[in-house]
Amino acid sequence: MYIINIDIEYRVLIGISAMVILFTSFLIAFVISQRKKLQYHQDLHVLHDEQKKNLTEQNELLEKHVQQRTTELSKQKEELQNTLAHLKTAQAKLIQSEKMASLGELTAGIAHEIQNPLNFVNNFSDLSVELLKELKDGPLQSLSDTQKLEAGKIIEDLSLNLEKINDHGMRAGSIVKGMLLHSRSNSGKKELVDVNVLAHEYLQLSYFGIRANDKSFIATLRTDFDQSIGTIEVIPQEIGQVMVNLCNNAFYSVKQKKKQLKDIYEPIVSVITKKSNDKIEIIVNDNGNGIPSRILHKIFQPFFTTKPSGQGTGLGLSLSYDIITKGHGGHIDVESKEGEYAKFTILLPQ
Ligand SMILES: Nc1ncnc2c1ncn2[C@@H]1O[C@H](COP(=O)(O)OP(=O)(O)OP(=O)(O)O)[C@@H](O)[C@H]1O
Ligand SMILES: [Mg+2]
Repeated sequence: MYIINIDIEYRVLIGISAMVILFTSFLIAFVISQRKKLQYHQDLHVLHDEQKKNLTEQNELLEKHVQQRTTELSKQKEELQNTLAHLKTAQAKLIQSEKMASLGELTAGIAHEIQNPLNFVNNFSDLSVELLKELKDGPLQSLSDTQKLEAGKIIEDLSLNLEKINDHGMRAGSIVKGMLLHSRSNSGKKELVDVNVLAHEYLQLSYFGIRANDKSFIATLRTDFDQSIGTIEVIPQEIGQVMVNLCNNAFYSVKQKKKQLKDIYEPIVSVITKKSNDKIEIIVNDNGNGIPSRILHKIFQPFFTTKPSGQGTGLGLSLSYDIITKGHGGHIDVESKEGEYAKFTILLPQ
C-alpha cells in the first residue's frame, strides 16, 4: 500500500483547515437554522395579529347585532305594553257599558212596575181632596158650630196631607217618566242635522230655562263651532235632550260656585264642536265646581245625584249615556278638576 509521506507540519495544517471548514459549515448551518426560526416566529406573529384583528372585527359585528336585536326587542316590548294598556282600557270601557246597559234596562223595567200604582196614588189623592171639599160644603153644614169648627180643622189637615201626597206623588211621577225615557231611547228617527245649529239652540234653551227661574243669574256663553262639520245623521230630539242635560248640569254647577264666590267669579259655559277624522266631537265645558274624583265613576249611573232632594233625579247623565252609546254608536267621556272645571266630550260617528 502507498502511503503519502507528508510532514507533520502539513498534517497539522491540513487538520486545522479541516476543522476550520467543519466549524464554518456548522456555523453556516446554525445561522441558517436560526434565520429560519426567526422567519417562522415572524410569520407566526403576523398570523397571530391577523387572527386578533379578525376576532376584534367579529366581536364588533356581534356586539352590533346584539345591540340591534336589543333595540328591536325593547321596541317590541314597548309596543306590546301599549297594546296591553289599550286592551285594558277597552276592557274597562266594555265592562262599564255592559253595566250601564243592564242598569238602564233594569231602570226602565222598574219604572213600568211603579207607574201603575203611582197613578193610583196621584189620582186618588186628587179625588180625595175634592171629596173633602164636598164633605165640608155638604154634610158638615148640618153639624153644630163647635163640631163644624173641629171637623173643619181635621178636614184642613187632611187636605194638607193629601196635597203633600199629591206633590210627592207628582215628583215620583216625573222620576218615573225620566226612567221610562231609557226604554224609549231608540224610538226616534234619524235625520240629517246641522249639529252646530242644534248645539247652539239647546245651549240657549237651557240658559233661558235656568234664567226663567232666577233672573239674577248671568253667565257668559261661549261657542266655537267647526263649520266644516256640515250635517250628520242623528235623532235630533235625543241629541237635543243630551245637550240640555249637559248644559243644565253645567249651569247648575257655575250657579252654585257663583253663590259661593260672588263678584270675584265669572261663570262661563262653553260649547265647542270639532271634526276629527270620521268623528264629530261636541264638548260642553264649564268653570264651575267640578266633580270630585271619588264620585267621577258614578255620575253616569241611574239615580246618582249630589243635588238636594227635589232638584235632581240623577237620571240626566245616565239617559244621555244611553242615547249616545246605544242610540248613536258614539262615546261620552268626562274630565274634571274639583273646584275648577268639568268637561263632557261626546264623540259621534259621522
Ligand atoms: N258639569 C258638572 N259639574 C259638576 N258636577 C256635575 C256636572 N255634571 C254632572 N255632575 C254631577 O253628576 C251628578 C249626576 O248628574 P245627572 O245629570 O245624571 O243627575 P242630576 O243633574 O243630579 O239630576 P237630573 O239631571 O236627573 O235632574 C250630578 O248630581 C253632579 O253631582
Ligand atoms: Mg242633570
